[in-house]
Amino acid sequence: MNEVMKTILSRRSIRKYEQRQLEEQDLQEILKAGSFAPSAMNQQSWHFTVIQSREVIDSIAAAAGKALGRGEPFTPFYNAPTLVLAFGQEDAISPVSDASLALENMFLAAASLGVGSCWVNCVIDFFERTQDGKVMRKTLGIPDGYRCVGSGIFGYPAERPAPKPRREGTVHYIR
Ligand SMILES: Cc1cc2nc3c(=O)[nH]c(=O)nc-3n(C[C@H](O)[C@H](O)[C@H](O)COP(=O)(O)O)c2cc1C
Repeated sequence: MNEVMKTILSRRSIRKYEQRQLEEQDLQEILKAGSFAPSAMNQQSWHFTVIQSREVIDSIAAAAGKALGRGEPFTPFYNAPTLVLAFGQEDAISPVSDASLALENMFLAAASLGVGSCWVNCVIDFFERTQDGKVMRKTLGIPDGYRCVGSGIFGYPAERPAPKPRREGTVHYIR
């Protein structure tokens, strides 16, 4: 099996992280992989906000938990040291697809570098549907005209989850 296939098949969502920050080279390679994702009409309609401040990540979690009425403790980012908020240009052809593909490229690149990752979804509700989220967008400097598509957390893994079984019957052949 080639190395790309090995990476794809061994990537897992990681929910326990070491506290040391990502090496800058790893972060830059991960972001570069994101920027090489395919996008509708090559619009590259994504915008990423990389947050490596524990204080800021925790403040987003606390504000989101409060605004969304989640119980405490609310730790959607699993104390990962790096959070990448993914936004898509509202007037692009396929902003959700574009930014999602970029995130997946980042997850695979991360796995190839020994970096753990996980998609975290609650940021969509927080930034798109709550007043506090709209205020925080300004605080974080998110540009106008972009919608939140999701987020990815990154860090060196402190767990090795077992492979998850894959669903059967999801492919239908006509040939
Ligand atoms: C659109 C999407 C939203 C997700 N949201 C969350 C989330 O909010 N929190 C979380 O811990 N995992 C989240 N995940 C990760 C999935 O739970 C995970 O990919 C799935 O259980 C399969 O496990 P694997 O990634 O290890 O193969 C999300 C994944 C996707 C694709």
